[in-house]
Amino acid sequence: MRIALCHLAAAMNSPRLLDGKTVAAAVLDECRAEVAALNAHGITPGLAVVLVGEDPASQVYVGSKVRTCAELGFFSRKIELPASTSQQDLLAVVRGLNADPAIHGILVQSPPPGHIDEDAIIRAIDPRKDVDGFHPDNVARLVLEEPGGFVPCTPAACMRLLESAAIATAGAEAVVLGRSRIVGKPMALLLVSKSANATVTIAHSRSRDLPALCRRADILIAAVGRPEMVKAEWVKAGAVVIDVGINRVADATRKSGYRLTGDVAFEQVAPRCAAITPVPGGVGPMTIAMLMKNTLQAARQLSRSGGHAAG
Ligand code: GUN
Repeated sequence: MRIALCHLAAAMNSPRLLDGKTVAAAVLDECRAEVAALNAHGITPGLAVVLVGEDPASQVYVGSKVRTCAELGFFSRKIELPASTSQQDLLAVVRGLNADPAIHGILVQSPPPGHIDEDAIIRAIDPRKDVDGFHPDNVARLVLEEPGGFVPCTPAACMRLLESAAIATAGAEAVVLGRSRIVGKPMALLLVSKSANATVTIAHSRSRDLPALCRRADILIAAVGRPEMVKAEWVKAGAVVIDVGINRVADATRKSGYRLTGDVAFEQVAPRCAAITPVPGGVGPMTIAMLMKNTLQAARQLSRSGGHAAG
């Protein structure tokens, strides 16, 4: 018993770091093999990334996505539109990409400027090219656990990180902090699915006693976009913590004027955990790798069906 407790204490003082860069590199290697297989059939996977406006963080994310495409030998199109772009013009761009046979995946970076009806834009994307997995057809497939749909990249990234560290989800108490369309809701669906079998709670800004809810978690997924909101006392000893937040906070000591921090107060939380993701270098690189996977899935499925959207 004493020995077991010593082991537990040692594990808690030095948590396992879930290194997203290393796992992402492995996923990208899988992608390279898939690109070669598609190339052998005369197919070059193609991704279009549309950015409306000049949000600096979105510019960085879009740049990383396009760079990763180039590294893997994908065809990519980066379409940067002014913040003043009308709903109609953006819809026309999406319809053009739906009809473009060189494009297998379409991503419109979120959030768009306030005058854009994002739901209408998402619904306009051909679901066969919806590599974000936000279109209602793909959401339905996720809910129904039907194969062939696209799973949103960030939740898919979190699941792959858990898998890579052999963290058992079956029967585990999972708490997802955040209920967004991009992360929280699909994350909860993946964890509760028949392949993961976790018991899932979705907690959000209107939940009563967030710290007590989070303390129930064997697996805590923090996806609220509030810097260092999750404190040590919110986390059960020995929990696995996945930090989805990528927040810019002012830091005069940095050349950029800011530093990146997660939704979890890493320094105080890490010693309590069995495993935790760092920010940066955790979920972020994995999300891009899963986007590449989804684009390859789209290229494979579209080429098999021989079909492209009518536009
Ligand atoms: N903004 C932040 N994350 C995402 C994402 O996964 N997809 C899109 N389209 N926009 C985002």
